[in-house]
Amino acid sequence: MEVLIYPTYEQMSVAAAAEMAAIVRAKPDAVLGLATGSTPLGLYTELIRLHKEGGLSFSKVTTFNLDEYVGLEGNHEQSYRRFMNDSLFSQIDVPPGNTHVPDGLAKDIPAHCREYEQQIVDAGGIDVQILGIGGDGHIAFNEPSSSLASRTRLKTLARQTIEDNARFFDRLEDVPVYAITMGVGTILEARKLILLANKKSKAAAVAAAIEGPVTSMVTASALQLHPHGTAFLDDEAAGDLKMREYYDWIQARKPDAPKSS
Ligand code: F6R
Repeated sequence: MEVLIYPTYEQMSVAAAAEMAAIVRAKPDAVLGLATGSTPLGLYTELIRLHKEGGLSFSKVTTFNLDEYVGLEGNHEQSYRRFMNDSLFSQIDVPPGNTHVPDGLAKDIPAHCREYEQQIVDAGGIDVQILGIGGDGHIAFNEPSSSLASRTRLKTLARQTIEDNARFFDRLEDVPVYAITMGVGTILEARKLILLANKKSKAAAVAAAIEGPVTSMVTASALQLHPHGTAFLDDEAAGDLKMREYYDWIQARKPDAPKSS
């Protein structure tokens, strides 16, 4: 896995956005896999800036989000559909019909999950998938012990995830216990994976994912099985990496490494 470390969250976000923008410029009808949460907000802000000031068009792009809470309507303040509409889709020129987020109110969830997988296949597969990482090492809502071959499905959330996400809800009890999530196997089929992580609170999970054993106890470690995975980290999230010195050394020597400014 390629590991790129930036001094600040802003620089990390701009570098990841530059990589995404290059993919969209090279393939205007690219299929983008997107994530919610705090981590990708800087990336989305930069993509919006590149759209408004740099002429980057998303008019032919198709998007698939990783996950959605079960039981929340699409316009609920904490639904991931609402998050994506507010944080990105409404500020770029992607046609709303090209954006896909699992439906948290689907009546037949297994059928909806199968259909979601089929929609990804019909779109030609995901060209680049953005991923955040949970404090417990999860990607999407693939909590510890999720099968590394898992597909899009109904998933219970771990206690730590519910507690981490309670900051967005009025009360801990309001955080949904179930979500629909792409599986680790689904994610690994994307042609390129971009893992984003910032803050000290992610350092242990990042080190386990990048340098630890491949294990379902840290589903982000499955990135080690992917031929085109890149981790964009800020200084704090990289804090527990044993090979930190090497990553910094090689990043400084790569003539074509994404630049942070
Ligand atoms: C969100 C998602 C989650 C988050 C992770 C980190 O779509 O799939 O795996 O990426 O929980 O969340 P933040 O970025 O809020 O720390």
